[in-house]
Amino acid sequence: MLDLLKRRRSIRKYTTKEIEKEKVLKLVQGALLSPSSRNLRPWEFVVVEDKATLEKLSFSKPGGGFLKNAQLGIVILGNPDISDVWIEDTSIASTIIHLLSYDLGLGSCWIQIRERNHNESTSGEEYIRQVLGVPENLKVLSILSIGYPDETKPTNNEEALNYEKVHLNTYGSKFVR
Ligand SMILES: Cc1cc2nc3c(=O)[nH]c(=O)nc-3n(C[C@H](O)[C@H](O)[C@H](O)COP(=O)(O)O)c2cc1C
Repeated sequence: MLDLLKRRRSIRKYTTKEIEKEKVLKLVQGALLSPSSRNLRPWEFVVVEDKATLEKLSFSKPGGGFLKNAQLGIVILGNPDISDVWIEDTSIASTIIHLLSYDLGLGSCWIQIRERNHNESTSGEEYIRQVLGVPENLKVLSILSIGYPDETKPTNNEEALNYEKVHLNTYGSKFVR
């Protein structure tokens, strides 16, 4: 796991290779297996394989254009009526999809939707609500853009980890490696 975390990077360029059905299913299973506060699982997911829909979703907000070249998008929805900590729970599910995609030989990138705008008059969430027909009671947290990687990135540098952000026993006491 630590090795995967060292190698993990956000991947925004994808090949045209389709993602196998079994891998899509594993990503869904991973999302549904995520931990959640009080085990309330206040999430829903829209698995998008349709190319025309992926292209529409790529316009959800500025900077999400790479989604149109992805083979798969998973839209992460949260239900505030089920849990007051739906943001934490859906963020964990997003992270699990991101890490699992790497473990399956895929590349992925989180596209932030909550608190982001489509344009001056429409939020990213409202735009997605219209594109996908998401009901009003659900919030849109993020989209995970997924595909076989068409870019390589340097691994994370272990030596550059900022241990100064880590305290031992009391705040301000150095954590010594
Ligand atoms: C909460 C969150 C929101 C993010 N939103 C976006 C986004 O909207 N668009 C994007 O291209 N990358 C997004 N990212 C990816 C980050 O930019 C990326 O993780 C960061 O730059 C570190 O790069 P790395 O993942 O390759 O290590 C997001 C990541 C997180 C955790």
